[in-house]
Amino acid sequence: MRPRVEVFPDLETASGALARRLVELATRAAREHGTFRWVLSGGRTPVGLFRRLAGPAGRRFPWSAAEVYFADERCVGPHDPNSNFAAAWATLFSRVPIPRRRVHRLLGEVRPPSSAAARYARLVDPLRAPTGPGLDLVLLGIGPDGHTASLFPGSPAVRERRRSVVSVRRAGLAPFVPRLTLTPPALSAAREVWFLVAGSDKADAISGIFRAPPEGDLRFPASLVRPESPTVWYLDRAAAAGLPPDRASRPTG
Ligand code: 6PG
Repeated sequence: MRPRVEVFPDLETASGALARRLVELATRAAREHGTFRWVLSGGRTPVGLFRRLAGPAGRRFPWSAAEVYFADERCVGPHDPNSNFAAAWATLFSRVPIPRRRVHRLLGEVRPPSSAAARYARLVDPLRAPTGPGLDLVLLGIGPDGHTASLFPGSPAVRERRRSVVSVRRAGLAPFVPRLTLTPPALSAAREVWFLVAGSDKADAISGIFRAPPEGDLRFPASLVRPESPTVWYLDRAAAAGLPPDRASRPTG
């Protein structure tokens, strides 16, 4: 399905727009089915969004109805500076009224990582539609190599079709520690998938992803995330430079 693209002058404007939509989506989900199930990824890009949501922009967010999951994690402990959980906790979840037990972290410290992956799969599998209630939103970023979550080009994880969560022995980019990641079918099982991407170093990856065939392109793993509804891309102008000419649009922010 053709993705929806929105281009903003910079990451800050994109994060502001995304924060507003997120509050609307979460409020609707909480009203309609009592819970907002949100899967988020790591990296630096969403930190500004997290800080906003911890401030006035998040005041109307239905925190008491939220359940938070992670799309991926580095195999480090929860206090390590490289931990995705640690970053999200410090910048957002420790600052808003969400009970700690509703922030479901991937256990990066458990060895072997495959057992942490299997454990998280037992949490995520019952949520997947059509048998479970479904995930409301997966929010992802991409790397300059086209990876998303910890699905790196060339890794066996990108070809995973059965399991929801797997371990990844070699990360394609720093930090070079093993990873835990949700797989393409698990990330695609959400009602909404949004990407937040900024920076000129991501333009080539955007180019590859938007030129991928309908089934996706293994060289650009983000293109393998294919939910039933169109993915939504919040891009800054620098990342949007990679869009094919028919997708380039004037900034909305
Ligand atoms: C991670 C990720 C990863 C990230 C992208 C973008 O743990 O590294 O979840 O997929 O979202 O690499 O990272 P930046 O936002 O730091 O560029």
